[in-house]
Amino acid sequence: MFNRAVAQKKILDGVSFDIKPGETLALVGESGCGKTVLVRTILGIEEKTSGTILYCGKDVDDMSGAEKRRMLRNTQLIFQDTAGALHPRMSIRESVEEPLILSGVKDAKKRENVIEDVFRQIGLDTSYLSRFPHQISGGQCQRVVIARCLVLNPQLIFADEPILALDVSLQAQIINILMDLQEYKGISIFLVAHDLAVVRQIANEIMIMYLGTIVESASSTELYANAKHPYTKVLLKAAPSITKGVKNKRFDLDLKPGDTPDASRLPAGCPFSTRCVYADGLCEKQKPKPVLVSEGHTVMCHKWDQLD
Ligand SMILES: Nc1ncnc2c1ncn2[C@@H]1O[C@H](COP(=O)(O)OP(=O)(O)OP(=O)(O)O)[C@@H](O)[C@H]1O
Ligand SMILES: [Mg+2]
Repeated sequence: MFNRAVAQKKILDGVSFDIKPGETLALVGESGCGKTVLVRTILGIEEKTSGTILYCGKDVDDMSGAEKRRMLRNTQLIFQDTAGALHPRMSIRESVEEPLILSGVKDAKKRENVIEDVFRQIGLDTSYLSRFPHQISGGQCQRVVIARCLVLNPQLIFADEPILALDVSLQAQIINILMDLQEYKGISIFLVAHDLAVVRQIANEIMIMYLGTIVESASSTELYANAKHPYTKVLLKAAPSITKGVKNKRFDLDLKPGDTPDASRLPAGCPFSTRCVYADGLCEKQKPKPVLVSEGHTVMCHKWDQLD
């Protein structure tokens, strides 16, 4: 569980999950729901006010400095904003080599081999190494950012909307790179997105977040076939490539008019109650508890078994 109070404002509440080795876990939710805050909290960039984060079974708050450094070396982050991720006056080579130097790889030949290896994996020619960020495209820049985190051979990558700013064909390329990393190197990936279509091919497990709460989580196959939460259904409807050809009234669901409430003015009951077409008095008063629908499938909704 991660809670965060910013000027009396709780951003995350009731968030609990595992990331397993070699698994891709996707976190999906609309803008402002708390996805980036969650990633930053797990990585210790933001301070949590309560809750526990375990790494390989150990509470990160109880870790020694050396243990923490080892964890951070094995964990890399790909940011939402890649434009600012590379130093404009450092060559691509310097940018990609820097983490290796900082982590104590003294042998220049060894560093060179690692970099060449990684560039092969992500499909970038080594001739780009001598260029500067303004001399490469946005998609190439994103691949360099990925290369920079791969040189340290991480076990776990947090990718916070790594493809948001890219056009569709480049999005597919980056997703393919991430899928290869998972498949051939067994890297675990925590992928943040605001669109279910994007995570479909890559995610094993999916969590749906609404206003700082995980409202539904399930394996990818289960979620697409058997979504229970009205908000998940809205997201599925918004991803037509998934529901195309699926004749099912379940997806004909809309939101009540009105804005998403701000995290600081959460509804008293279910966080989704002000937007949900099924919400009634109970939903407005009482926050639902997570219910186990089937093995590995959890939903937080008073009415999940009365809908369809
Ligand atoms: N440092 C901060 N101080 C105060 N409030 C913050 C801070 N960072 C984020 N927030 C607030 O927390 C909420 C969640 O923000 P967050 O950046 O996690 O959203 P997100 O789900 O990543 O959205 P997006 O898809 O647009 O990236 C928002 O209401 C935001 O305004
Ligand atoms: Mg974000």
